[in-house]
Amino acid sequence: MSSRTGVRLRAVAEADVPTLDAWDQDPEHAGEWGDFGLPPRSHAELLRRNGAERGYGFLVVEVDAELAGSVSWHAVPYGPNPQSRAWNIGISLHPPYRGRGAGTRAQRLLADMLFATTDACRVEASTDVDNRPEQRALEKAGFTREGVLRGAQFRRGEWHDLVSYARLRNDP
Ligand SMILES: CC(C)(COP(=O)(O)OP(=O)(O)OC[C@H]1O[C@@H](n2cnc3c(N)ncnc32)[C@H](O)[C@@H]1OP(=O)(O)O)[C@@H](O)C(=O)NCCC(=O)NCCS
Repeated sequence: MSSRTGVRLRAVAEADVPTLDAWDQDPEHAGEWGDFGLPPRSHAELLRRNGAERGYGFLVVEVDAELAGSVSWHAVPYGPNPQSRAWNIGISLHPPYRGRGAGTRAQRLLADMLFATTDACRVEASTDVDNRPEQRALEKAGFTREGVLRGAQFRRGEWHDLVSYARLRNDP
């Protein structure tokens, strides 16, 4: 899936694995909002599992044909029936690709793709109350700010409040 501005989402390939693994060990890539104190992921393992797992997905973000980051999504059940499943999305761009509109385009493309390929009514995202770039990118991608999730995320030894955003299938 791609956009006019050279931002594209595509499946992860074997050739991406070394770069994605290196980014996971780079404190600059994790930045202020991505440091959860977890061991680095194996993207080779992710590549093997991808597509085989219901309720989870991972794509890479390309900017002008260069590997620029990744997006992922997971199912959030809001009731016991399948219709009540929403998608929660996340994104991480490598620092040189930030602040150029790619995060906005990638999250708009991902929500469009999830609405086109699943019957979900709701695509949501949450981010730290201080993460202004992500809040702004979500707003520009058509997401609506819904409220604050107090003490929802544990990071760097503290609980953090998150802001919750969502885009609904029939939102303008
Ligand atoms: C968050 C992220 C996805 C945003 O993508 P991006 O490509 O950098 O964002 P965009 O260029 O599309 O838009 C960013 C907007 O935030 C604004 N912005 C940037 N820094 C800001 C700040 N400190 N305060 C207020 N607004 C800010 C930009 O001006 C821009 O808005 P504008 O177009 O109205 O000027 C990307 O920066 C990233 O991957 N960051 C690290 C990982 C992360 O935080 N992921 C989300 C965690 S939930």
